[in-house]
Amino acid sequence: MKRAIDQLRAGDSCLERRDIEANHARLLARNALHRRFGYDSGAGVGFVLEKALPLCGHVLDVGTGKGRFVVALARHVPKVTTVDISPEEQRFARLEAAHAGIVGRIEFVLADARKLPWRAGTFDAVASWNAFHHLDDPARVFAEMLRVLKPGGKLVLSDFSPSGFRLMRTIHAAEGRRHPHPPSQFPCWRARLRDRSFAVRYFIGHHQEVLIAKRLTSSPRLSSQRLTINHQASRAMQIKHN
Ligand SMILES: C[S@@+](CC[C@H](N)C(=O)[O-])C[C@H]1O[C@@H](n2cnc3c(N)ncnc32)[C@H](O)[C@@H]1O
Repeated sequence: MKRAIDQLRAGDSCLERRDIEANHARLLARNALHRRFGYDSGAGVGFVLEKALPLCGHVLDVGTGKGRFVVALARHVPKVTTVDISPEEQRFARLEAAHAGIVGRIEFVLADARKLPWRAGTFDAVASWNAFHHLDDPARVFAEMLRVLKPGGKLVLSDFSPSGFRLMRTIHAAEGRRHPHPPSQFPCWRARLRDRSFAVRYFIGHHQEVLIAKRLTSSPRLSSQRLTINHQASRAMQIKHN
């Protein structure tokens, strides 16, 4: 009986109360360390959500990690699925969701974001928070995020800003570790979204960069075809003028 009370049924896994508490304590300690160096992950998540909301329908979160973002997101959306390649990280996130009392509101999927296991146009919104600098092939993941987004859907892409990366470097160096990351590709993502007829807004604050993009056209293929046609037309114009 006692054991049954100490366990929390969450989908196919049983989460022990002591694991939930220990995981939460670890996360709080990590967050407190970040704050001592000037990075407040709660404020970072809040800043991104403030820019992204409202988010309607079924939302996909890419790169679950410890669940800082998806646990906050799940409080604001009707349905959320989160995907990560690492079972260990998703277990931490699941424990944190259980601590927040919302584990049943999040669907956890283990998969490689370079090949998302959903049909084109499945989600009303697709989001990612502080995961992109961890990806081996961010361009492919970015393309996959756009593929699974419905026409009219919203993309929310956020990662550390240059000041955020500087803080992360300092924190990791103080721990004798490194936090390598590729240079910010936000200008590239922004240009690609505009090329594909997305309406794009860009924000920077709380050591985060954020792109909020709304898909305007019904078909990404159509917009890329339009782009090709536009390129051909402008080349033809150039040739005519030369
Ligand atoms: C630092 S976490 C992101 C932070 C997280 N969004 C949060 O709210 O705490 C980065 C995550 O990206 C995941 N990841 C890396 N490559 C991936 C891939 N190809 N597909 C899915 N997840 C991936 C890692 O396993 C890790 O859990």
